[in-house]
Amino acid sequence: MRTLIAANWKMHLTRSQASGTAKELVGQLEGNLPADREVLILPPFTSLEAVSGAIAGKSGFSLGAQDFYPAEEGAYTGEVSPSMLLDAGCGYALAGHSERRHFFRESDELVAEKLVYGLEKGLHMILCVGETLEERKSNAVKEVLSRQLRSALDGERVQNALATGLSVAYEPVWAIGTGEVARPEDIREAHAMVRQELTALLSGKGEQTGILYGGSVKPDNISQILGIDNVNGVLVGGASLKADSFSAIARG
Ligand code: 13P
Repeated sequence: MRTLIAANWKMHLTRSQASGTAKELVGQLEGNLPADREVLILPPFTSLEAVSGAIAGKSGFSLGAQDFYPAEEGAYTGEVSPSMLLDAGCGYALAGHSERRHFFRESDELVAEKLVYGLEKGLHMILCVGETLEERKSNAVKEVLSRQLRSALDGERVQNALATGLSVAYEPVWAIGTGEVARPEDIREAHAMVRQELTALLSGKGEQTGILYGGSVKPDNISQILGIDNVNGVLVGGASLKADSFSAIARG
């Protein structure tokens, strides 16, 4: 399984900043990336084209989107479809990021629809799951992860669409953007729970599904995180916005 090192740029960087950062990353990483690593950049929609141009033809680099609406086209003001993303050069997309779940009130049902629709359209989907601090304090981690995974992955439609590629990102909400990285034992335990659910839900494919960790990943904690059982990559926010720190993570 390839190790996926993903940069979620969230709502940051103009086109010229995005293009400059992507070019710097290519300059720092091309030829320096371990063969089993893939670098994925998830810029805002407005910078997809700029980043696509910067990474065109560079091996080990991929492009993805942070969100979409699950329909082919239509009267959905403000939205972007998977077909438009594929046309813009995206191979990947996120579903269920905690910021979408919390700030934009995305339900488990909408996340499930986005996930299966994106897979059916041919995107490699990264399903994000994770508990809040209150849920962790009340010992509900397993229950929350199970609910988020089952609501999105249970069912024949998903099973039939898995060939395009699925990853799961475990991102504890309390570790996102806070500088507070989860302890290795918390990550090990949560990733084992996710693996167990995936094995139960995805007949035969649970073992090959990559599980990424996200939440305050930095150059100084990356090697420890990647050494934990069932960690197959990382999803990086803040530390992915500067080429120097993200390339250190990608090499780490
Ligand atoms: P930070 O790396 O800024 O904590 O963000 C993590 C994240 O939300 C990635 O999707």
